[in-house]
Amino acid sequence: MFRADLMSGKRILVTGGGTGLGKAMAGRLLDLGASLVICGRRLGVCQETARELTDRHGGRVDAYGVDIRDADTVERMVADVFDGGPPLAGLVNNAAGNFICPTESLSRRGFEAIAHIVMHGTFHVTQAVGKRWIAAGWRPGSPMRSVLSIIVTWVENGGPFVVPSTMSKAAVEAMTRSLAIEWARHGIRLNAVGPGEIPTEGMSARLSPGQEPGARQREQNPMGRAGTTEELANLATFLLSDGCDWLTGQSIFMDGGLHLATGGNFYELRHWTPERWRAAREAIAAQDRKDREQRHG
Ligand code: COA
Repeated sequence: MFRADLMSGKRILVTGGGTGLGKAMAGRLLDLGASLVICGRRLGVCQETARELTDRHGGRVDAYGVDIRDADTVERMVADVFDGGPPLAGLVNNAAGNFICPTESLSRRGFEAIAHIVMHGTFHVTQAVGKRWIAAGWRPGSPMRSVLSIIVTWVENGGPFVVPSTMSKAAVEAMTRSLAIEWARHGIRLNAVGPGEIPTEGMSARLSPGQEPGARQREQNPMGRAGTTEELANLATFLLSDGCDWLTGQSIFMDGGLHLATGGNFYELRHWTPERWRAAREAIAAQDRKDREQRHG
């Protein structure tokens, strides 16, 4: 779909790049000649991904163990990235956290965990990168820098049972539009992509616990299927490349038309019994335990 050297000479930071959608986007960018920086809370997982991607595609992938909620750690990572190699040309705000839960039973810490990762964390990374781009200067005609943030389709119509994530992703969309205006004169453009269900381990465990990945899409999606990581990687590549620089401040929803047809959110969970919610919570907790073990060695 793309020229083999489309991204060569570009260094791109993908947050949450160790797994799932972030890893898929990182792999495609690397394959097209970019060099990569990936970060995630599990350093070991990011290092393993860096090895796997460079074995497969060649090139350079630097890995950092960073929780984007912690602004100081983000600042140290971004300083190190700019000091330790060529300047970044792109940023993919992919790191996120989410789980389904009836809003009335969310604890304060549950709300904060999601809001701090998605809203605050995305801001911390974007600001740390953006201020360095602005300090470095930019002249019209030279390549623009591009920020791509992953959002959700239900910023449009509301996200029942995932309210902290919905609120925070709406904030990320607002940041995208605001900075598209504020930072255009510094050669920075920002866009967002809201993918529908693209089954990955972390997402399936937390948003469709106990269900076969993609089953809902086969039933309800106008295209009769879930999305693929390749499709997201292709769209991300297009948005991070130089061919369409005038495109900024936009959100693109790629979900096979599901949100247009049905709303595409979790409204159907209103039928769940307390037992089903208990089982879901237990399944999500099992995934969290697995992730935690990888964080602590
Ligand atoms: N239902 C209700 N509350 C939940 C929950 C669930 N399924 N899962 C976690 N919480 C609550 C916890 O009970 C805790 O609150 P409490 O101390 O009042 O009990 C709070 O959320 C924080 O949980 P904790 O596990 O300590 O947070 P963490 O910072 O280690 O993990 C999460 C962050 C909760 C977002 C975790 O899901 C995660 O690490 N996700 C990252 C990847 C991800 O979400 N990917 C999918 C994106 S679609």
